[in-house]
Amino acid sequence: MNPILRSELDSNTRKALELAETTLANSHCPHSGLCVSAGLLLEDGQVITGINYESDSYGLTLCAERTALSRAQAKGVIEKAMAIVISARWRANASASEPLTPCGACRQWLSELSHRLGRDLPVYSFWASEESGLSTTARELLPGSFSLDQHEPDNPTN
Ligand code: THU
Repeated sequence: MNPILRSELDSNTRKALELAETTLANSHCPHSGLCVSAGLLLEDGQVITGINYESDSYGLTLCAERTALSRAQAKGVIEKAMAIVISARWRANASASEPLTPCGACRQWLSELSHRLGRDLPVYSFWASEESGLSTTARELLPGSFSLDQHEPDNPTN
């Protein structure tokens, strides 16, 4: 995980981040008050966004990253993924904070996507409009992750 400045992002990644920041307004976070948005950048520059969607039963909450991946899968474009950007801010105040790092469940999803793509997936995360964010990858976020590929001979779907 390395620090990265907005100005160091390529123009498509920066646009994905800006779109994710705009989409933060659509976050449904009545319980935590933490608005999270993710933008999956595709190879043609298109961005599939997702937001966190909190449930009154808390544990059923969906994270922004998995919402974006589900939407990309539904649209049939997930295999064009080039990177994912994450944006977060408090709903009710503008205080600064560290960039969000994906939760364990999202790390597993990102890791599985990177297996499907046959390449690592860059992950960028920025807090609100902060200039400095963080740069990492799906594989770095979850080394040694579980994948059915490793168990192919016993996979009943083969
Ligand atoms: N959240 C995400 O959307 N992505 C993450 O990787 C970590 C956490 C959301 C879930 C919940 O709505 C809020 O942040 C507080 O945990």
